[in-house]
Amino acid sequence: MRQAGRYMKDYREIRKKHELLEICRTPELSATVAAMPVEQFGVDAAILFSDIMIPLLEMGVGLQIVEDVGPVLDRPVRSLEDVKAMQQLETGRVSYVAESIRLTRKALNDSVPVIGFSGAPFTLASYLIEGRGSRNYLNVKAMMYTRQDAWRLLMEKLSRVVSDYLMEQARAGCQVVQLFDSWAGALSAEDYSAYVLPYMCEIAEKLAAAGVTVISFSTGNSALLPLMKCRGVGVISVDWKVNIDDAWRMIGYDVAVQGNLDPAVMLADRDFIVDRAKAILGRTSGRNGHIFNLGHGMLKETPEENVKALVEFVHGWELDK
Ligand code: CP3
Repeated sequence: MRQAGRYMKDYREIRKKHELLEICRTPELSATVAAMPVEQFGVDAAILFSDIMIPLLEMGVGLQIVEDVGPVLDRPVRSLEDVKAMQQLETGRVSYVAESIRLTRKALNDSVPVIGFSGAPFTLASYLIEGRGSRNYLNVKAMMYTRQDAWRLLMEKLSRVVSDYLMEQARAGCQVVQLFDSWAGALSAEDYSAYVLPYMCEIAEKLAAAGVTVISFSTGNSALLPLMKCRGVGVISVDWKVNIDDAWRMIGYDVAVQGNLDPAVMLADRDFIVDRAKAILGRTSGRNGHIFNLGHGMLKETPEENVKALVEFVHGWELDK
């Protein structure tokens, strides 16, 4: 959830000297950044410091990460020919990611689990097709609805990339991996089931078979939550737009949930943050399998002392209250 990032003073210091992608590609820097929130705030897990664009970059896709915009591609993928021309990911090209994971575990002395991650096929496809983040995903939907051959081939290729990439992260020492399907909320339940879910299930099953816990993340559409529970998925991430107990009831109690504090709450004062955290813990207490978390990424305006206060409060909460 971008727990290491621009809201941290120490990260901003490193960013003055290095571009984001340079940090991602330099294992020593990436591991230093990944360890910072564990060292400074005492969170219960570290997440690999990288970006969802890294595997695409290493497949030869030209792109920039533009401040306050996000990834912008040189040339969007729009036709079957474009999809056919896409290279696969040679995992040797992301060996620095594996090294980052090993160094992160070492920096933290294996005191907490290290979470790996990848963009999920739909979200990666969205960037490839739209060329950048989008409001209504018209080009993505146009391909899905009218160029089924191109869509299916693209999703097959990306599923292979994502599972190879995540398996490489697991081999390097990640105990958990998170699939970020940040833009899947733009789809109806029907379209998600038809055009996205089969690929998610295939990836999750492969990782689960290798003993890795899979967290499935999306945002903005609670109608997708029950569908996201496919075989192999161990944890479902819940954003802040739905009450977490309602979400869990919809999903079913045989899977864990994470969430669901609104990241904007972190900009308020301590008492307000604690009240909102209490409400979430109250809704989930008495059940095993809730991971306290934000509903989406930490905002860059978040005061560091608020993160510290939140972690302290959650750690002090007694489950039987
Ligand atoms: O600590 C962590 O959580 C790991 C770091 C992490 C980053 N990106 C680093 C980063 C993670 C997990 C990501 C994933 C990611 N990247 C996602 C999926 C998660 C989500 O938020 O939905 C997405 C969609 C991206 C693409 C991306 N990269 C965006 C939208 C942005 C923000 C652009 C901006 O300037 O507001 C980035 C840049 C980025 N990735 C930053 C960080 C710390 C901030 C920019 C910087 O340091 O220059």
